[in-house]
Amino acid sequence: MCMASNNSSAIESIFSRASVRSYSEEKISRKTVEGLLDAAVRAPSAMHLEPWAFVVVSDRELLKALSDRAKPLFLEKLHHAPASFSDPDFDVFHGAGTLIVICAKPSTFSEADCWLAAENLMLAACSMGIGTCVIGSSVDAINLSKTELGIPAEFEAIAPIVIGYPAVKTEPSSRKTPNILAWR
Ligand SMILES: Cc1cc2nc3c(=O)[nH]c(=O)nc-3n(C[C@H](O)[C@H](O)[C@H](O)COP(=O)(O)O)c2cc1C
Repeated sequence: MCMASNNSSAIESIFSRASVRSYSEEKISRKTVEGLLDAAVRAPSAMHLEPWAFVVVSDRELLKALSDRAKPLFLEKLHHAPASFSDPDFDVFHGAGTLIVICAKPSTFSEADCWLAAENLMLAACSMGIGTCVIGSSVDAINLSKTELGIPAEFEAIAPIVIGYPAVKTEPSSRKTPNILAWR
């Protein structure tokens, strides 16, 4: 779980954030989600295009249907996918009650812009005691379900992120030291 306290510094959030894969039943309010989206759109974007657009899914049945669609697609895509993807009970969204999908109309740097917005959102959430996890394994299922999700055809889902109040504390995982190739 994010260990940063409310109004913690950016550096505290960076060093305490961890992907959360166990969530409480407590819903994240619409106002809180809106606050996270406000933080997301503070990200830099190439040529100030701000290409991102958001879809919020909190309908549990829809989340379940998406998870069930995502698993076979991911197994097909990634032959060494974890065994959990073959488990009918496995929820790719880890039981989170809210999924935020960051989408964009494809352009030169739209993916980079969306991922920067994603990190802003996750660090802001961390500073508020809210857990997050990127769910890359759901992106194909989301893009095949655009109509159902209200994503216009010309947009692509880029960064699916679940959010929720953590049920358990997750410690940050280790990192390799920075690989500095040159310093001239
Ligand atoms: C592009 C991307 C896709 C990811 N997809 C998944 C996913 O499908 N399911 C999941 O549980 N975690 C997913 N993650 C989370 C990573 O597993 C996690 O960030 C990584 O193990 C490092 O752990 P940390 O986030 O706790 O620091 C994804 C992360 C990224 C950046």
